Amino acid sequence: MKTDTPVTIRRGDYAPPAYLVDEVALEFRLDPAATLVRARLALRRNPAAAPDAPLRLDGEGLQLVEARLDGAVLPPDRCRIGEDGALTLLDPPAAGVLETLVRIAPESNTALSGLYTSGGNYYTQCEAEGFRRITFFPDRPDVMSRYEVTITADRTLCPVLLSNGNPAGSGLGDGNTHWARWVDPHPKPSYLFALVAGDLVNVADRFTTRSGREVALNIWVRRGDEDRCGHAMDSLKRSMAWDEQVFGLEYDLDVFNIAAVSDFNMGAMENKGLNVFNTKYVLASPESATDGDWQGIETVVAHEYFHNWTGNRVTCRDWFQLSLKEGLTVFRDQEFSADMGSRAVKRIRDVRGLRAAQFPEDAGPMAHPVRPDSYIEIDNFYTPTVYQKGAEVVRLIHTRIGPAAFRRGMDLYIARNDNQAVTIEDFVAAMQEASGIDLSAFMGWYDQAGTPELAAEDRYDPEARRYTLTLRQSTPPTPGQPAKRPLPIPVAMGLLGPDGAALPTRLAGENAAQSGTRTLLLEAAEQSFTFEDVPAPPVPSLLRSFSAPVRLQGVPREQLRFLAVHDSDPFVRWESGQQYAASVMLEMVAAAQRGEAPGFDPALAEAVANTLAAAEADPAFAAEALSLPGEGFLADQMAVADPVAIHRVRQGLRAEIGRRCGPALRAAYGSLAETGPYRIDGRSIGRRALRNACLGYLVAAGDAALAKAQFDAATNMTDSLAALSLLADAATPAREEALAAFHARWRGDALVLDKWFSIQAMADRPDAIEAMRQLYAHPDFDLRNPNRARALIGAFAAGNPAHFHAESGEGYRFLADAVIALDPINGSIAARLIGPLGQWRRQAPSRGALMRRELQRVLDTPNLSKGTFEKASKALL
Ligand code: PHE
Ligand code: ZN
Repeated sequence: MKTDTPVTIRRGDYAPPAYLVDEVALEFRLDPAATLVRARLALRRNPAAAPDAPLRLDGEGLQLVEARLDGAVLPPDRCRIGEDGALTLLDPPAAGVLETLVRIAPESNTALSGLYTSGGNYYTQCEAEGFRRITFFPDRPDVMSRYEVTITADRTLCPVLLSNGNPAGSGLGDGNTHWARWVDPHPKPSYLFALVAGDLVNVADRFTTRSGREVALNIWVRRGDEDRCGHAMDSLKRSMAWDEQVFGLEYDLDVFNIAAVSDFNMGAMENKGLNVFNTKYVLASPESATDGDWQGIETVVAHEYFHNWTGNRVTCRDWFQLSLKEGLTVFRDQEFSADMGSRAVKRIRDVRGLRAAQFPEDAGPMAHPVRPDSYIEIDNFYTPTVYQKGAEVVRLIHTRIGPAAFRRGMDLYIARNDNQAVTIEDFVAAMQEASGIDLSAFMGWYDQAGTPELAAEDRYDPEARRYTLTLRQSTPPTPGQPAKRPLPIPVAMGLLGPDGAALPTRLAGENAAQSGTRTLLLEAAEQSFTFEDVPAPPVPSLLRSFSAPVRLQGVPREQLRFLAVHDSDPFVRWESGQQYAASVMLEMVAAAQRGEAPGFDPALAEAVANTLAAAEADPAFAAEALSLPGEGFLADQMAVADPVAIHRVRQGLRAEIGRRCGPALRAAYGSLAETGPYRIDGRSIGRRALRNACLGYLVAAGDAALAKAQFDAATNMTDSLAALSLLADAATPAREEALAAFHARWRGDALVLDKWFSIQAMADRPDAIEAMRQLYAHPDFDLRNPNRARALIGAFAAGNPAHFHAESGEGYRFLADAVIALDPINGSIAARLIGPLGQWRRQAPSRGALMRRELQRVLDTPNLSKGTFEKASKALL
């Protein structure tokens, strides 16, 4: 049986809303099975819309109790609820007050969109289209309204009643109820509405803005979690100060509330004045959170806070403009984190992340521009492309016009668009006007999908002391975009002499001397740059700080080795080491595929030894340099991926390095041992990362006992988990012992239990699939909890390529079974998890066929959600 094909929404079809809503008054009477929502909307016809456009309010699963227009009950023949759940008012007036009363059941809302319960408390999630599951409303971001919200609930069950804006009264109601009122003075789109109610406790603090406004800060958590909010609160205060200093942006309400919830589809949500966070990005203690978790909290708290201006005060006209707020806000949180710690290491991590998730997306069936042209389910477009590539595009503009003009551009963007719902053109226009630089070609970065490939060719003329660098770009086709045009690519670069020193970089026609890093702008498919007075044949250092999200290809190995040691730019040093290792490893994979012994390049062991010798200066950087390119990164560079061979080669190489560099690794491991109390400053984090990188090689070379010793002695989660994840791959009785001990200690802590599931899901074991089925049936596994579902299913499909891609196809079958089971519960998470099956084109035909079969099985499931339908059907095209 076939359900109706869901409709495709197109960017070109945008039309302004027929009606605007200036004011909204909402009254909630909370009850898990039957919550009542009364909404009073002050509506008026939009002068910008067609005069006869119908009055249609989105709605989904709402039970209408009554509707009134200007106080009079509307007869059923004047308001109709359609198949899609929307309410249409026939014969609508030009203006009026529409009042609706609806009933909803938050306890049976497993999709976690709209109003739902978690652990007996109430939470909302409205982005992108959840508000229509709460009340009838034009649920689109270009309808901005002022909200007054009154919440009534049982005093004992729900002592805390929160919504957006500032508190505006509270009192006792009938029976055992009480109420609270909130008024948000700032107009906002419905996706930023929030309500949180229940038995929560707060950690309180204050912040004084630079103009002297006192802001009350609160983090709301379940009783018992209060002592794990310190880092989130500290991150919040630092974010508030940073946005004032760097962008001149101050907070604009009397209170800023964060509520943490353990059932949440995403990381966190920037609702005005009431952010709702996944507990994963709030709660941390040294015993229970890794260094990565601490950094994740800092980033996400900052990200959501920064949305207050980039997203909330200036919002998106429609969902195609999503990157207007997300790309810009990711750029801002990246800059914040860079300022808080090591800029170079932050850049390396961000680029690693971009390559791990966004490059494959750009090369797969869901490839889409930063500003998509169409979608079926907007939830599917909260992607690495919209977020991370979107941030890279903002960074391109930043690089092109420089920091001072960028700051002026931000001022102009906000001044001009405050309290409006705007487009990406409005952002680029502000940057263009503030800088006086024509940025029209940069729009191509928003509208063209795919990752450009960049290649360089050079020539040195010793007589003329002239050096010519030719750069070429091309972008492979993506679905729906067969032909690509050249994009403006800023290439930050320098020239190195034979001894590694910087050479002058004066271009022909320039008068002033130039040295150090300069940025060339490649605008055409091919362009040559001629440098004068170059005293010796140089080695070019290209794409410093990763100045554009492109694939730089074909740098000769000798140059990579040279740059890895000598370049002044830490990113290029790291990058060159990675590219060198990747090229060696790909050769080893090819040898393994031919059935030959892979061989060993002693330069890799030398590089490890050199890194260790210099590690003291910057341990975090050394840890990055020591990590071999990931399996996904290698697969991404093969015409036909071979995940099993890649895994075997990488493991074998780790073992070989561990053996050859054993003494140096052991010495470093010993000297990096922590003395004194646990600290989480950048240096301490770097030392732990480096030490655990050393441990990885030593265990790969056979010393599982070292991991067990670290696991037993660990006093922080970083060291404990690093050891456990290595043990999880080892065939030793210590493995089961450690896993059991970890479970026994942490069974009461959901976030740590997630890690226990993930580690096993990513383990390299002969019985991996059987282990997955057992974990899926484990009493602590809960498909309904998104964190838990991701921890097991997502970690396996994305983090265990060798077993997910098992020849038998059982890994694929496991994933499809899980997606089919999850789809009716939470279609949004199901659609996310199915992603890895879409990569079938990159696999050998035998694997590809098995993957397609599972995609088809998902697609044949009756009543599939729109989102899962979109992902599965596009993957099969
Ligand atoms: N807007 C949120 C963010 O980027 C992400 C999100 C999207 C959360 C949709 C929930 C639902 O910060
Ligand atoms: Zn965001």
